[in-house]
Amino acid sequence: MQARTIRLRAGADLEGFRRAIRRLVAAGVTPEAVTWIAGEAASLFPEDDVGEPGPALALPRAVAALVPPVVLHRDPERYGLLHRLIWRVAQGERHLAEVASDPLVHRLALMRKAVGRDLHKMHAFLRFRRAGAGEAGRERFAAWFEPEHHILAEAAPFFAARFPSFDWSILTPDGSAHWDGNALCFGPPGRREDVPEHDSFEAGWTDYYSSTFNPARTNLAAMRAEMPKKYWHNMPETAAIPGLVREAGRRVGQMIERAPEAPVKRVPIRALAAMAAQEPDSLAALNAVIRASAPLVPGATQAVLGEGPPGAAIAFVGEQPGDQEDLQGRPFVGPAGQLLSRALREAGIDRDRAYLTNAVKHFKFEARGKRRIHQKPTAGEVAHYRWWLDRELAFVAPRLVVALGATAVLALSGRQVPITRARGPASFGEKPYRGFVTVHPSYLLRLPDDGRGEAYAAFVDDLRRAAALAADPLPA
Ligand code: URA
Repeated sequence: MQARTIRLRAGADLEGFRRAIRRLVAAGVTPEAVTWIAGEAASLFPEDDVGEPGPALALPRAVAALVPPVVLHRDPERYGLLHRLIWRVAQGERHLAEVASDPLVHRLALMRKAVGRDLHKMHAFLRFRRAGAGEAGRERFAAWFEPEHHILAEAAPFFAARFPSFDWSILTPDGSAHWDGNALCFGPPGRREDVPEHDSFEAGWTDYYSSTFNPARTNLAAMRAEMPKKYWHNMPETAAIPGLVREAGRRVGQMIERAPEAPVKRVPIRALAAMAAQEPDSLAALNAVIRASAPLVPGATQAVLGEGPPGAAIAFVGEQPGDQEDLQGRPFVGPAGQLLSRALREAGIDRDRAYLTNAVKHFKFEARGKRRIHQKPTAGEVAHYRWWLDRELAFVAPRLVVALGATAVLALSGRQVPITRARGPASFGEKPYRGFVTVHPSYLLRLPDDGRGEAYAAFVDDLRRAAALAADPLPA
């Protein structure tokens, strides 16, 4: 077969790839016959014009979902790998993307994960600095960021939704994004020196970080994993970290000495947020408040934070962490979580791309011997944690929020409604997202075996309907 060279735009050229792959598949061109070039790299061979697209490809949903994130990856082989996947699917391996052990699928899944992680880091760690006046006297801000992958265009709408009221620019070595209060536009690469190094917000960030830093929980490996050092130079609050870590041992010693006469005081969540001298203005900042606060009902090992990429189209809200979640510090990892993961898979929802959280962030239980028996949170406890949930969802900005069970409905809407009445599409009041109500997976676990199959099928069906709603753009 004649060799072909396809040149696409530098960075992530999803449209170009789609056009080219349709033509290649329609013409029966194998992946081995194609060299993909992105941007300016010189080619030794005559090049194909991407030209007119071929007929649309009917790809399985799991394959279609892999293409956009993989195209954002920086690996020069990304288009060739996707061509190999699509080629094999077109040759009859329709379920290939579900075969996690296949080396090609595994590699593409890692690439998608890396891009998701990069987006998460950019949303969490980008810091704007004041950069003078913008259009019509509006304040202007600028930020420097070095993403690992070609994610700028994907990440920028999140910042437009979060910071619509001032003008801002995000500069990166690959390109820049600009917001003027009305529209986003993209331009050429920027330089770090075009972004001011210091501004008046810095002291606030550093005080905030210092006040929420818990010396007794200093875990350098976990800190580095969550906030890798390469992001530190863009984040004013990180200047405080070395000093706080150096001091941690001494502060813990003081805490232990003081403990007998002065038991550690529980700091109410709102007061803790007020200590920050400003509303937490990112999910990472909000999570720092949550992590530093004590449980309303004593006993829990730790606060269990929400998990998933900010900007996820769909978010799930459960009741509260269970025994396993409390120990592992992650939501939905115990038996109910495993059932949920299975149901999500069957409904075609990628758990890694959804946001999962709980109405109440600490495990409430009654100790019976060695067992810790889950206790339902009271309406008052749910109300106490609503402040967090509202802000958390505002930062994540999903299109659809799924309430799993009655406690989640109460937390989201402030109303006690039986699930049998509320099940299906729902409104949780004046919210910037759609709502959906279904049962909690632990309800399915409690059902007798003979009724569980049918109830489980109805649950998966609900999740499918929810996924369709989440994919449907909000009406203007
Ligand atoms: N049940 C929930 O509601 N949330 C979890 O995270 C686990 C079990």
